[in-house]
Amino acid sequence: ISWNEVAIEMAKEVEKVVMPLFGTPKAGETIGTNVSGDVTKYVDKVAEDIVLSRLQPLDVNVVSEEVGLIDNGSDYTVVVDPIDGSYNFAAGIPIFAFSFAVFAGRKPVYGAIYEFVTKHFYEGIPGNGAFMNGERIHVRKPERGKEALSFYTRGRCIRLIKKVKRVRVLGAIAVELTYLARGALDGVLDIRNYVRPTDIAAGVIIAREAGAIVTDEKGNELKLNLSATETTNLIAVNDRYLLDLILEEL
Ligand code: IPD
Ligand code: CA
Ligand code: CA
Repeated sequence: ISWNEVAIEMAKEVEKVVMPLFGTPKAGETIGTNVSGDVTKYVDKVAEDIVLSRLQPLDVNVVSEEVGLIDNGSDYTVVVDPIDGSYNFAAGIPIFAFSFAVFAGRKPVYGAIYEFVTKHFYEGIPGNGAFMNGERIHVRKPERGKEALSFYTRGRCIRLIKKVKRVRVLGAIAVELTYLARGALDGVLDIRNYVRPTDIAAGVIIAREAGAIVTDEKGNELKLNLSATETTNLIAVNDRYLLDLILEEL
């Protein structure tokens, strides 16, 4: 299977169908509850239906944000969030993306994120690097005292705000991980015990391939569970010293 083709075609199809709904009340209508107990918005459902029907002929296992696990007994598992940042999408905030990760057994083999508004297509290919629209990308080297950090802590670790120059909370962690990967942010911190593999799987693959360090809140290498419901904490940074700075405050 050419995962690159599958991801691009699927992302384009989702784009075509959902973009007319961007910023509309219809997009944000609640139509149910997902496997994590979060609301499913109209746009989540429309996007997921496309993804599921596209993946169906491939007969792989699927972990998707709204429906959860579809186990087809395959060696391959696709962990997908059809729209990460659906609040932003419905509210007309242009930060949201399609997120797609592939595992052979538990081993990551491919990650892709498509940011519809900027038309940036990111890929992480384990052992081979990270790319944006086919061009190699890399994390940047942070400047001490000038760090820019995406920051989800729900009140924890707030002294860190004084230790870095910029904090951002953009509302779509898949996108924020690509910003780390291409050197637009120095770190992404989410210690609410809230994000799930569907939110971060592709972003972690891409960020790691771009040179990021990605750990749990103890500073140990983050392991991705192939689940739509198991929550986790995440620290992703471009430099060891920034990891230490964060761990000191936890
Ligand atoms: C959300 C985004 C957001 C994160 C939330 C997620 P959704 O996903 O990833 O960045 O802070 O925890 O639920 O619901 O927009 O796909
Ligand atoms: Ca999500
Ligand atoms: Ca989603």
